[in-house]
Amino acid sequence: MIITIVGGGSTFTAGIVKSIALRKAELEVEEIRLFDIDKERQDRVAVLVKWILEEDLKSGIRLTVSYDPAEAYKDADFIFAQMRVGKYAMREKDEKIPLRHGCVGQETCGCGGLAYGMRTIFPMMKVIDDAEKYAKPSHWILNYSNPASIVSEACRRLRPNARIINICDMPIAIIDVVAAALNITDKKEIVYDYYGLNHFGWFTSIEYRGKDILGDLRDYIMEHEILLPDAYLKDKAALSNKNKDGNRHAKGSWYYVWKGEYEIMSNFPDTLPNTYLNYYLQQKEFVEHSDPDHTRANEVMESREKNLFDGIDRYLETGVIDETVFYAGSHGDWIADLAIALKNDTKARFLVITENRGAIPNMPYDAMVEVPAYIGKNGPEVIAQDRIPLFQQGLMMQQLNCEKLLVEGCIEGSYQKVLEAFTLNKTVPSMKVAKEVLDDMIEANKEYWPELK
Ligand code: NAD
Ligand code: G6P
Ligand code: MN
Repeated sequence: MIITIVGGGSTFTAGIVKSIALRKAELEVEEIRLFDIDKERQDRVAVLVKWILEEDLKSGIRLTVSYDPAEAYKDADFIFAQMRVGKYAMREKDEKIPLRHGCVGQETCGCGGLAYGMRTIFPMMKVIDDAEKYAKPSHWILNYSNPASIVSEACRRLRPNARIINICDMPIAIIDVVAAALNITDKKEIVYDYYGLNHFGWFTSIEYRGKDILGDLRDYIMEHEILLPDAYLKDKAALSNKNKDGNRHAKGSWYYVWKGEYEIMSNFPDTLPNTYLNYYLQQKEFVEHSDPDHTRANEVMESREKNLFDGIDRYLETGVIDETVFYAGSHGDWIADLAIALKNDTKARFLVITENRGAIPNMPYDAMVEVPAYIGKNGPEVIAQDRIPLFQQGLMMQQLNCEKLLVEGCIEGSYQKVLEAFTLNKTVPSMKVAKEVLDDMIEANKEYWPELK
């Protein structure tokens, strides 16, 4: 078994490698390959990956670091993709440009997500084509690269037969927080139902050892006026962006989305919303508490990215590794466990982003939805759902059509369709603002976007 990581220079690579290596027996993995287009960045991350494989875990897994797709993808069984097209410099623009126009500035939601999508569609097709050309015919691409919703719609449109499964770690990150809040230590015993689009969905039930806990969770959220564990709330340092330990989703400006879980559930108590719904349901409030000169991209560059590369430099100088400089945990476990289910045909249940095909009866057949599925060697077998309520369906249809228009506009090079996508997004207050943001985005993304006519 060979696993190729595309976006080898990512801040998540080391954590993913650790999750893979800890599952060496089930995955029967012999070689991990890193592939990136940024040599300097990947070479530095590779130092840490080598330490994990050889010194930390003494795994016996071979490491190859490459910048040549032919070499990196050759005979690969799995391709784990996690590239950020334009890196943090462009994420910062995705977040700051909309804020300048009074709109939500977020990397995967609203105008920022649309801009990031326009950058990522064609590089993602290149990953699929390289895999098709060089990897084993039975390969699977497991894709984390964002914006996963738009990427998955582009895959459906442009490469319908690609062996790709698009995934997201937010639902499991939410379950981690739910478990910590309710003092549940064996989170593997938690089972949930969920439906939506990526970064746009709802938990409809959460059970622990067969007992419903959504009611207890609602009580917890109403009492604390936030969804964060007591331990974090009592220790304000845990919530600081500067803290290297602990849950990365709890730090810095992430605080507001956990607060938002309370605000949303105060009005719509039946389901637990994905944290990302805050950007669509509290768009005005998000803009009000944002600092247009210092956004999440800045927080990440000052913490996750800085800690990682400082830690690598320190290791090179002193030979001592501080493991808190990289994140290991649910994010890597999720993608590695998904690979195990595919390889060993386990039919384990995972949330994946996949074509609806009637799974949600009152959403279009060809919508890319995020729903539970059993995963076996032939991919996801989606679990059928009931009809969804009009409120959620209406929100999803607006977002779905926005994303479909963006993908069509990107493929056709149509300014008109991309403008329609920006105008249709729920985070954008008017057609005029949509056009202003789009025109600024075109300027900022000149190097990356197809030309729009
Ligand atoms: P990062 O900038 O640290 O790493 C991304 C890497 O991708 C960089 O080394 C960059 O050089 C590389 N890259 C850019 N374009 C490339 C291309 N065309 N081919 C190969 N490599 C390329 O970013 P990060 O914060 O570690 O995040 C990595 C990705 O994972 C992002 O897309 C992020 O949004 C995504 N992510 C997704 C989820 C999810 O839930 N789906 C969760 C976490 C992160
Ligand atoms: C969650 C989402 C990802 C997103 C990430 C951003 O994990 O599921 O899709 O990329 O958050 O986190 P960050 O720490 O980079 O703001
Ligand atoms: Mn995600």
